Amino acid sequence: MADPRSEEAVNYVTSIQSPVNPIIETHTLTRKFKENRAVDSLDLTIQPGDLFGLVGPDGAGKTTTLRLLAGLLYVNEGQATIAGFDLATHPEEIKQRIGYMAQAFSLYGKLSVLENLLFFAEIFDVSRTAQKARAERLLAFAGLTEFKNRRAAHLSGGMQKKLALACTLIHEPPILLLDEPTTGVDPVSRREFWNILTELHLNGTTIIVSTPYMDEADRCSRVGLMYEGKLVVCDSPANIRGQLQGDLIEIFPEDWHAAHRLALTLEGVIEAQTYGEALHLLVDDGTRRLSQIQSAFTKNQLAYKTARIAPIRMEEAFISLIRQMERG
Ligand SMILES: Nc1ncnc2c1ncn2[C@@H]1O[C@H](COP(=O)(O)OP(=O)(O)OP(=O)(O)O)[C@@H](O)[C@H]1O
Ligand SMILES: [Mg+2]
Repeated sequence: MADPRSEEAVNYVTSIQSPVNPIIETHTLTRKFKENRAVDSLDLTIQPGDLFGLVGPDGAGKTTTLRLLAGLLYVNEGQATIAGFDLATHPEEIKQRIGYMAQAFSLYGKLSVLENLLFFAEIFDVSRTAQKARAERLLAFAGLTEFKNRRAAHLSGGMQKKLALACTLIHEPPILLLDEPTTGVDPVSRREFWNILTELHLNGTTIIVSTPYMDEADRCSRVGLMYEGKLVVCDSPANIRGQLQGDLIEIFPEDWHAAHRLALTLEGVIEAQTYGEALHLLVDDGTRRLSQIQSAFTKNQLAYKTARIAPIRMEEAFISLIRQMERG
């Protein structure tokens, strides 16, 4: 063992502490559709092994970003490196290293589950000897073995998504770009899909996944919030939640229209968001404001079921950040 004070030891420690090269890096990446800057001077850094969630309102530029990274769209300005290759000069090398699942992916409905996998294996030049074994392994991984002879068109929505993911994985790419892979899928299938993603993440695959579901964003190692083509926040879910000042009070009023109106007039209430039957009030100080809000509701004869201080979730943080953007 080297003397801990020796230069050798210091070099060793420095080398293990030095940051690894990003696996994806973009500088001022821009894509325009006429005058619309769908992706606008995007600077994005993804580290190897990240499970990166891309969130943002409709039209924010998530799909365009993923399509640019997948080499499917022409870049107007800026540059990107993926797995050490420049997107402009080495698109073929990049294509071998990424798996891209489009928002509206297409399977071949008339082909069976297994035939779809083998079809994508051919497209990605997977050797004939490796094809069968990989397909069987992916079928097991995606829980589709017993359906392997069923036509893809006859699978449930959730199973189709899992098959699409399996097809995306057939050439064993180290980087996955998944565009809303679980949208419209029932909660049980969503959970199963995310268990698969988590397993891939634990095995070292780098994943960028766009999602409209905030519980999914919460499962990511980092989350990027896009707004009007730009990345406006990029951090761990915990740090993004932590960006919201104050506390959250959850209240279930009988008449939430009236409750919402009243809440916005009360001292210390920064913001009000509605969630189904619940009213979520962002306040400066939860302990201090809870009793004041309860008294105000009683005084105004507004009945409510429960009122409590609740933990801030990604959902509240996301909506609050978007509102801040909209206010400019
Ligand atoms: N092929 C295209 N031609 C013209 N405009 C486009 C095209 N694709 C996207 N856009 C525009 O670019 C902007 C970004 O769209 P994009 O699909 O990337 O958003 P998104 O964040 O994926 O939205 P969603 O959550 O609805 O999927 C939008 O204003 C959209 O209308
Ligand atoms: Mg999209």
